Amino acid sequence: MPERGKFIVFEGLDGSGKGTQISALRDHIRSTGAEAYFTAEPTISSTGGMIRDALGGHLRRDAYELSALFLADRIFHNVNPINGIRQYIEKGIDVVCDRYYYSSFAYQGIEADLDWVMKMNLGCNEILKPDLCIFLDIDISTGEKRISENRFDREIYENVEAQRRIRKRFFEVFDRIMENENIKIVDASRTVPEVSADIIKIYNELKEK
Ligand code: TMP
Repeated sequence: MPERGKFIVFEGLDGSGKGTQISALRDHIRSTGAEAYFTAEPTISSTGGMIRDALGGHLRRDAYELSALFLADRIFHNVNPINGIRQYIEKGIDVVCDRYYYSSFAYQGIEADLDWVMKMNLGCNEILKPDLCIFLDIDISTGEKRISENRFDREIYENVEAQRRIRKRFFEVFDRIMENENIKIVDASRTVPEVSADIIKIYNELKEK
């Protein structure tokens, strides 16, 4: 049996620069000749489509309903036989995922009962626990500036008040689960090369373990 691949998740507020940093990590991994599968949540499944409609504000969904849709999408993301996370990890291929259950805790956890959202995700055997979560931390005003520069339309959570509550929730959740999870908080208000140098260091440490 091959050694299991590493499962790496990126998290952060909207406008935290995840996309840019994930591309930088992809370039780094490619330059080493290693193989990795890059993916994101919500996925492109039909459930992902329903989620995107709700995020775009086209269809109003209750926070519990949205939590359940993210959960269903995440289970599919893990187990589907075509490009599910599990099969890559089991084949020894690393997986890098843009958002995962930490986002459900922080985003849906500002409206739905946080304990319920956590129990549904952490208690589900089909949902793999990441080997590493990199949280790109920015302050609310930096995020707001980046959102206003880069977006035509805003999604339901892309407003200052929601982002402030979501950031607070992320840190409350990290405090609660830090002992059982490998969470690294990176100051993402710095320049792109500074942030990506830190991420590559964290990635290399994980690979050396
Ligand atoms: P992004 O791809 O630009 O990060 O947008 C995804 C949006 O979905 C973002 O606003 C966070 C939100 N989201 C949740 O609310 N809960 C979740 O579980 C996930 C994965 C994402």
